[in-house]
Amino acid sequence: MSMGSTKVLEESKQGEATMVEGPDNGKKLYLESYGCQMNFSDSEIVASILAKSGYTTTRNAEEASLVLLNTCSIRENAEQKVRNRLNHFNNTKKKNPELLIGVLGCMAERLKAQLLEEEKLVDIVVGPDAYRDLPGLVEEVTDGRKAVNVLLSREETYADINPVRLNSNGVTAFISIMRGCDNMCSFCVVPFTRGRERSRDPESIVHEARYLHQEGYREVTLLGQNVDSYRWNVTKKGEVIDPEKETVNFAQLMEKVALVAPDLRIRFSTSHPKDMTDDVLHTMARYDNICKYIHLPVQSGNTDVLKRMNRGYSREWYMNRIDAIRRIMPDCAISTDIIAGFCGETDAEHADTVSIMKEVEYEFAYMFKYSERPKTLAERKFTDDVPEAVKQSRLEEIIKVQSANSLKRNKASVGQTFEVLVEGVSKKSDGKLFGRNTQNAVMVFDRGDIEVGTYVNVKAVDCTSATLIGEVVQQ
Ligand code: SAH
Ligand code: SF4
Ligand code: F3S
Repeated sequence: MSMGSTKVLEESKQGEATMVEGPDNGKKLYLESYGCQMNFSDSEIVASILAKSGYTTTRNAEEASLVLLNTCSIRENAEQKVRNRLNHFNNTKKKNPELLIGVLGCMAERLKAQLLEEEKLVDIVVGPDAYRDLPGLVEEVTDGRKAVNVLLSREETYADINPVRLNSNGVTAFISIMRGCDNMCSFCVVPFTRGRERSRDPESIVHEARYLHQEGYREVTLLGQNVDSYRWNVTKKGEVIDPEKETVNFAQLMEKVALVAPDLRIRFSTSHPKDMTDDVLHTMARYDNICKYIHLPVQSGNTDVLKRMNRGYSREWYMNRIDAIRRIMPDCAISTDIIAGFCGETDAEHADTVSIMKEVEYEFAYMFKYSERPKTLAERKFTDDVPEAVKQSRLEEIIKVQSANSLKRNKASVGQTFEVLVEGVSKKSDGKLFGRNTQNAVMVFDRGDIEVGTYVNVKAVDCTSATLIGEVVQQ
């Protein structure tokens, strides 16, 4: 076992291998991630922290000495999936009693030590703000103790950690710009599992973007639960903290990252309708390398439902934000999140969601049935009273409307030529490549001698509701 500073081969579940500096203790980590992009981004931080104490990642759970599941609590079925996986690893552990199993992320935070008692096979439980403690906890458990750290922090942003890129295509990467959420939407468990909102030092963000660009990456996605409330050196009330230092809001942060290199594309997620300013939209419009795409979750098209959801905006306010996007960036794509069957939702209120979808004509949508989560405002204040069958039929209607919207949007793109960043070989055909245009539409086209990680002009010649079929335009 070598403890010197050697180059360690980091292997990911599906992607390419990356080299990181660190000692090699011969032990292998198998890491599985669920939930949102932030959780996947956190897994890269976890891999980096454990690489420093000698763990290399493996895509084969059988050869791992440490299995970590980075979990999600957003809906009941997300937790069920993880419980099924834990049962599966229970069997692996029967064959290999030395194997350590840990639960990270939002389920760890929500259920805390309960996970150790309920799921007897779990050895380690670590919440999203305690990952620096992982090496110590692994050691503790090796000594025969159960290890838990679910403390939430007001400061932790992991700003100094250079994440190990897992499952990477070498072209696109996530950068976390903030953690936590202070919004308290009544349906949402995130404020309880991720703690208070805090922003990361802008310098460290720009530094990470610069590093990624040098490494050949050509697109970064800035991540936060509500990127529009990013703030540096300013209090929530708008008071400057240190007058000697500059203050940075989200529009300014985006500009700083856009200036890193003209061929580094910027995306971001998630925007919040109550906080998204025209300033952000003008900054987007000013820079070609900021992608013309906004994920703006509406949740419901009815103002009373939005009030019960504690979203902080009305239908009119939301439509005003849509109008601002259309006015400032006529070519900007918009996607959304929708919840069907929230507490007390009537047929008429559901009809308002359908009508707002038809009005906006989203390019894309993530659509969910409401799932009651313990401790949330909605669980305490309202009854989850929309019958399952009604939730289901409303969701189906919503999905139908969205498929029609997506197809209509894609059809309107046929005949147009787009600049596409090539991300990899198409899953369906070896002879084809895929990438996305600035509006985030996936385009598939012949491979030829085009390289992954380059920009090509592609003309859309046909489409499905999910993909644009393209032909490369000679340049
Ligand atoms: N921060 C983001 C959303 C994070 S969660 C935002 O504010 O938009 C992603 C999506 O999951 C939410 O937009 C919502 O549509 C959905 N979601 C959250 N809690 C849910 C619940 N209890 N039941 C069903 N869907 C939920
Ligand atoms: Fe949840 Fe609302 Fe925060 Fe999004 S903004 S993470 S939906 S509480
Ligand atoms: Fe899930 Fe936690 Fe993200 S609940 S959606 S993994 S913040």
